Amino acid sequence: MNRRRFLGIGAAVVGAGAVGAVAVPSAARLLAEGRPGRLLPSQLDLPAPFQVDLPVPAVLKPVRTDATTDYYEITQQLARLEILPGLRTEAWTYGGTFPGPTVVARSGRQVAVHHRNELPVPSVVHLHGGHTPAASDGYPIDLVLPVGSNASAMAEAGGMPGMEHHAEASPGSTVVGDRTYTYPGTQRAATLWYHDHRMGYTGPGVWRGLAGFHLLHDDEEAALPLPRGERDIPLMLADRSFAEDGSFRYPAADADGPGVTTDYMNGVLGDVILVNGAPWPRLTVDRARYRLRFLNASNARLYRLELDPQPSGGDALVQIGGDGGLLESPIGHDALEVAPAERFDVVVDFARYEPGTSVRLVNRFGSDRAAEVMRFDVSTRTVSDDSAVPDRLSTIERLDPGAAVTTRTFSFKRSRSDGWTINNQPYQPGRALARPALGTTEIWRFFTDLHHPVHLHLDHFQVLSRNGKDPGPYDAGWKDTVDLRPAEAVEVLVRFTDYRGTYMLHCHNLEHEDMAMMADFVVE
Ligand code: C2O
Ligand code: CU
Ligand code: CU
Repeated sequence: MNRRRFLGIGAAVVGAGAVGAVAVPSAARLLAEGRPGRLLPSQLDLPAPFQVDLPVPAVLKPVRTDATTDYYEITQQLARLEILPGLRTEAWTYGGTFPGPTVVARSGRQVAVHHRNELPVPSVVHLHGGHTPAASDGYPIDLVLPVGSNASAMAEAGGMPGMEHHAEASPGSTVVGDRTYTYPGTQRAATLWYHDHRMGYTGPGVWRGLAGFHLLHDDEEAALPLPRGERDIPLMLADRSFAEDGSFRYPAADADGPGVTTDYMNGVLGDVILVNGAPWPRLTVDRARYRLRFLNASNARLYRLELDPQPSGGDALVQIGGDGGLLESPIGHDALEVAPAERFDVVVDFARYEPGTSVRLVNRFGSDRAAEVMRFDVSTRTVSDDSAVPDRLSTIERLDPGAAVTTRTFSFKRSRSDGWTINNQPYQPGRALARPALGTTEIWRFFTDLHHPVHLHLDHFQVLSRNGKDPGPYDAGWKDTVDLRPAEAVEVLVRFTDYRGTYMLHCHNLEHEDMAMMADFVVE
């Protein structure tokens, strides 16, 4: 394994050199479709939908707690999982399951997660949506090498050409075997998730299973009469493709190099829709309100989720929260558009359906098998439900555009020579595209060629405008990922708080991210 491959640096450029030569869907066609990505078909017969029960990932127990902190242990390991009935799929997992175990945290308490890497590859853990000091944020070259990696692997990782000046930018640096990531938890209740963030390899890492929920609760949320317990369910949506033998298919550019083959550069779409790791599952629900926390953990696929049938009167999906926690007040939707990495926290009242109704969750952006997601079977038993969705959920401080000290512009586009870029620059560790001052508010303006879900680490933001007009129907509340359609411009307001250091700004289409649509910003 040569060292460039090992870290993936430079390969985006190598891969991108071939762009002009291969038939790639034209921008015009993608514009017409309005969606990125290319289907990678499975090489086996897909199972019938709604045959398996929805799994809910297990909640991880702390190994120890003290006055301030809950301590967790996760071993990253290979596991042979039964994802498709009767077949085994080798997955890269957190703790042996996909999704990984759910970390449930309490706002105000610190969480320390000790990760041990028993995978055959280096890893990096990022808590997506976490308000995290840089050293624990999962900088993409702060590798945890596999347990037992020797000095030469370490030297390769640390001794890359050009790495000298990156050492400073890299807040945690490379280690062998294990690392403890510390999350202060000084943020509001929200649906967060953790996933692999290794430079050049986030796409295959997440595709093979490295993703899990991290739920944060607080007193404000606990005081509301929202559905809870068994009626508060995280739903991780992820499309995948499988080879004949049941293994995951992924169009890697070459055996151990980063990135994908040129024809999949726009993003990899699978033809099997997994919810919490199960293909098109079903769930029996009471005639009661449920809180469903949707996370799109797909590499590139966008969903337009609807219930079918819709309850009479519409507004089936009552949004109560987004990436950064509760909204100020609920928003009724007939459909939810969810881009990669976005979270939508919704309440569905299944009492609006007759007992015995089967309600499909469908994806209006999907075709064929990708048009189905899961099914809710409304039970005939009589239950009580004392939950409610109050008109007022929370108070959200409106960031003031007048207080912004600067406006910065970031262009997300594909370059002929450099792959996917931000401001024409392919990702290079240590090269910051912005240096905001701690404590200040800025307006960041994003614009796109094609579809790009833009994500910021460190702080949640508020969408200020979309194409010079009001924010869209899915832009409410605090967000950390905002979806831009082709040739759009979105302005967000962000205040940089609490931590100095190097953080990431990137497209969360994971193939775009791996092929260099990422940048450092340094809070000074
Ligand atoms: Cu979910 Cu930087 O990523
Ligand atoms: Cu993130
Ligand atoms: Cu993108």
